Amino acid sequence: MHDTAPLNYPERIELARIPTPLQKMSRLGRKLGVEVFFKRDDLTGSALSGNKIRKLEFILADARANGADTVLTCGGAQSNHCRATALAAARVGLGSLLLLRTPDPDHPPAPDGNILLGRMAGAEIVWVTPEEYQQRDVLFQREADRLRAAGKKPYIIPEGGSTALGAWGYVRAMAELAADLTAIDGGPVKPTTVISATGSGGTTAGLLLGAQLLNLDVRVAGVNVCNDRDYFVQVINGICTDFFKTQFKGGAAKPARPVEIIDGYVGRGYALSRPEELRAICELARLEGVVLDPVYTGKAFFGMLAELEKNRHAFGSRIVFYHTGGLFGLFPIFEQVAAVL
Ligand SMILES: Cc1ncc(COP(=O)(O)O)c(C=O)c1O
Repeated sequence: MHDTAPLNYPERIELARIPTPLQKMSRLGRKLGVEVFFKRDDLTGSALSGNKIRKLEFILADARANGADTVLTCGGAQSNHCRATALAAARVGLGSLLLLRTPDPDHPPAPDGNILLGRMAGAEIVWVTPEEYQQRDVLFQREADRLRAAGKKPYIIPEGGSTALGAWGYVRAMAELAADLTAIDGGPVKPTTVISATGSGGTTAGLLLGAQLLNLDVRVAGVNVCNDRDYFVQVINGICTDFFKTQFKGGAAKPARPVEIIDGYVGRGYALSRPEELRAICELARLEGVVLDPVYTGKAFFGMLAELEKNRHAFGSRIVFYHTGGLFGLFPIFEQVAAVL
């Protein structure tokens, strides 16, 4: 039992196949000399899978409550968040517009992986340069004005759905994980480190908030796959502070836990893979039959292995690696993956 008041969740639309399994990775654990579980949020659905769907359950409920008929969001060319948003929007009868980043909008990437699925879901895609993307708030307003002029009711979802409202998705996920671990431990959750990929910060923020609100002996660490530690400490603290200001009605008044970002594993850059990262993904597939993605979970996993190599006790005696999905990102780089097999 955790001495905590029940959480007052906002309205949500059921979209995710949850609870997801918490699976023990025995062979991996033996190799690493530490107990390892995977929380399988890659199994929150099929095409509509991964971590974003947990945030979208709350965000799309808000979009609908606001009378929206079209959601706008943004990301990299192979954004899982954009693919999940397009499919989830279609699932609840909304349209979608995606601002996707690419070096040359006149020659966008082939409709592979997440782009293909987004287009199949009927998303309107607006290609933007990395420089334009820096000004995405301006672009959102421009596209929202254009949609309004056409009689539509737009609703903007910031990058990654990483907002105070979206954070509820991972507060709820932490409650789910606490129930999984309580069942295993047969009582209060034993010390555990939860490790996940940090891309826009919302997942790490939600897990951190959940651990605080549920008063768990759980350490939350994010491996950043872009930017750096300072950037994410600021972003995640911002989301958590905003959460207490705008979402949380009672109890703790401010974020109480330090944001832990494990930096040093961005490698060649966002969405760019190194052979050693792809090798680690393939080795895990062979060892445990679990497939990670190259952009997020593969890098986070590689980072976790590297940290454990430096210090086997870096994360205590039990790790939950949070598998946040992203499978479709493997296929557009199949040649690089095949090269390490
Ligand atoms: C598969 C996958 N894992 C992890 C993340 C990171 O989550 P967040 O953006 O909430 O930091 C993302 C998205 O950015 C993702 O698509």
